[in-house]
Amino acid sequence: MTVTRGLEGVVATTSSISSIIDDTLTYVGYNIDDLAVNASFEEVIYLLWHLKLPNSEQLAKLKEQLAENAALPQGVIEHFNMYPIHDVHPMAALRSAVSLLGLYDEEADIMDPEANYRKAIRLQAKMPSIVAAFARVRKGLEPITPRKDLDFAANFLYMLTGKEPEPIAVEAMNKALVLHADHELNASTFTARVCVATLSDVYSGITAAIGALKGPLHGGANEAVMKMLTEIGTLENVEPYIRGKLANKEKIMGFGHRVYRKGDPRAKHLREMSKKLTELTGQPELYEMSVNIEKIVTGEKKLPPNVDFYSASVYHSLGIDHDLMTPIFAVSRVSGWLAHILEQYDNNRLIRPRAEYTGPGMQKYIPIE
Ligand code: MLT
Repeated sequence: MTVTRGLEGVVATTSSISSIIDDTLTYVGYNIDDLAVNASFEEVIYLLWHLKLPNSEQLAKLKEQLAENAALPQGVIEHFNMYPIHDVHPMAALRSAVSLLGLYDEEADIMDPEANYRKAIRLQAKMPSIVAAFARVRKGLEPITPRKDLDFAANFLYMLTGKEPEPIAVEAMNKALVLHADHELNASTFTARVCVATLSDVYSGITAAIGALKGPLHGGANEAVMKMLTEIGTLENVEPYIRGKLANKEKIMGFGHRVYRKGDPRAKHLREMSKKLTELTGQPELYEMSVNIEKIVTGEKKLPPNVDFYSASVYHSLGIDHDLMTPIFAVSRVSGWLAHILEQYDNNRLIRPRAEYTGPGMQKYIPIE
């Protein structure tokens, strides 16, 4: 049993959720609705790490640094072939690869702010390459070398599919990356901060955060939503399936949120994108199924959809393997984790809350005869 809800954990300057008047999410004071429509993911990375939007030179420099650092050490690619079982989940592979990456970084344990910033760039740049490389290696394919002429979202799609990405796919991926970048003191961000507050290194902090994001009550929810949509299969099945689950008091994945009262402001952007993409790819039923599920769940339980609900059908429409949905969340969220890690180092104190003890009172130890 945990009693952390409602307690303030850390001081943070990156994102804020205001649920007093309305449910608003801001990154450094910029409304997520503006950023989702207008900003590139690279601008958001810069914003979270520098607490201001970049000018054109700063943006160009960041893009260049990300492109230059995207390639993986050969050892990281080869280690994917060494797993003892074949159906390793990509989040487990990502966690191992990031941990291994730390061994290749000569600056891993150098703690000065410049070195930590350089590590942040390297890690952010390599995250999509890890996810895409694992996705190919497990199918017996060669990883695709990252391209320097493509922006972050386009390059990620290119490495995943091996094809020149369509503009609409790039728009969808960029939007998804912008929307998932940071989210106040969520479980994985808190994990990252607790870890590095011991003055452990950036790679340990990110490895720990990936572990926290993996769970279905956090980032793993988008994959769970897709599993549910696949199980339902057709529009006619929605009603009996969802009502059956509700009658059995089972959790419907992708609904409700610990912090928002009326609804997650990120969900509507993904709903729109899901509509557009499912129509374009000739799968409008997937969108209609999702809308019907939303109608039933919000009607019956007053629970609105969260960021994970419509992201599932967006990624599915982009042709992405279902178990890569949470790793995509990680590729985006690493920007927020890194922002929080840099902030934690900047003014560090060990994070060590007290536990409320509810066990037995004092007892006398009697040795076993
Ligand atoms: C997130 O984006 O991290 C999720 O909505 C979970 C959370 O904020 O607690």
